[in-house]
Amino acid sequence: MESPVSARLPWFGPGKCPLYLAPMAGFTDPVFRQICKEYGADVMVTEFVMANKFLDPRGEVVAWETVDFSPEQRPMGVQIFGSNPEKMGQAARKIVDRLEPDFIDINYGCPAPRVVDQCAGSSLLTDLPRLQAVAQAVVERVTMDVPVTAKIRTGWDDDSIVAVEASRRLVDVGIEAIAVHGRTKVQGYRGAANWEVIQAVAEGVPVPVVGNGSVDSAQEVMRLREQTSVAGLMIGRAALGYPWIFREIKETLRTGVTPPPADIEERWQVLLRYCREMLDRPRRGEAWDHLGWMRPRLKAFTKVIPGSRQLRQQLEKVNHYDDLVQIAEEHLANYGQEDLSTVLSESH
Ligand SMILES: Cc1cc2nc3c(=O)[nH]c(=O)nc-3n(C[C@H](O)[C@H](O)[C@H](O)COP(=O)(O)O)c2cc1C
Repeated sequence: MESPVSARLPWFGPGKCPLYLAPMAGFTDPVFRQICKEYGADVMVTEFVMANKFLDPRGEVVAWETVDFSPEQRPMGVQIFGSNPEKMGQAARKIVDRLEPDFIDINYGCPAPRVVDQCAGSSLLTDLPRLQAVAQAVVERVTMDVPVTAKIRTGWDDDSIVAVEASRRLVDVGIEAIAVHGRTKVQGYRGAANWEVIQAVAEGVPVPVVGNGSVDSAQEVMRLREQTSVAGLMIGRAALGYPWIFREIKETLRTGVTPPPADIEERWQVLLRYCREMLDRPRRGEAWDHLGWMRPRLKAFTKVIPGSRQLRQQLEKVNHYDDLVQIAEEHLANYGQEDLSTVLSESH
């Protein structure tokens, strides 16, 4: 089945299957997104921000920093979450007026207690009338300028798989594309993604459906393109610390040959650039110079390379960019020549 054509979302259509970088809070910051774009991500979505933050002068600074993007990152969506239709609509309007993103995306998948407890994110999968009211309010406020899309999970738990019904309701009020993470809220990020449910949504609604859940290789992309009718695929954790995943997939699709994994030198070059560019940006409205809060990102980049155990301990303590450069130099001197194709295939 060919994927639906959408003039307002031109990255979908016959012969196309765009690769999305999944929104990942705490990781898909503007610099990481830029790097993923350069390595081949087709479409990107900011991590989620609570709608109310855009409406609150005290929360606004961080909210705008989070959803910032450069023109090269387009097509770019801004993701918001919340349970109050009016506030969601207002926030979406403010974002569209200020940033003119290519689309607004609504989060109906987050399982985190701080989100679920305010009846937002995945908890709206247990209240489909409200899920629909939220979507309708956002659509009404911005659809004249940009399309609105949604990201859902399959349901709350195995006994309440509602993805098809939720998607139909969303499309009924004007949602123009839907990303489906093929896990339930209760599953969190564990276990296999349910591609049967994703496929049922793709067959059940007349808008493009993006499949998401453990897509981590060109082989998996080829299999899913063959066996499902999704209009696009979204890559999450496989891109954490490894933006090269997009290059690998695209080159394999183009040439039939999977290129070798990024070598250690390239990994350090990109990681150092990442840190430098992050340090150049304001954080919470202020300049900053320590790498403390970048630690999870540093660890993601160095997780599977030789010497990672020792690196982990060093990165636990690193605060300053110059110290990171020194760690990189030492690591390169020790391991820079290792052939990662063999090392990584042994570690998998
Ligand atoms: C650290 C982390 C943060 C995430 N933050 C968001 C988010 O802000 N918005 C969202 O819709 N999904 C978020 N997700 C879910 C991912 O977008 C994606 O649906 C999920 O990781 C499944 O894809 P994967 O199996 O390829 O990782 C997050 C996932 C992770 C691991």
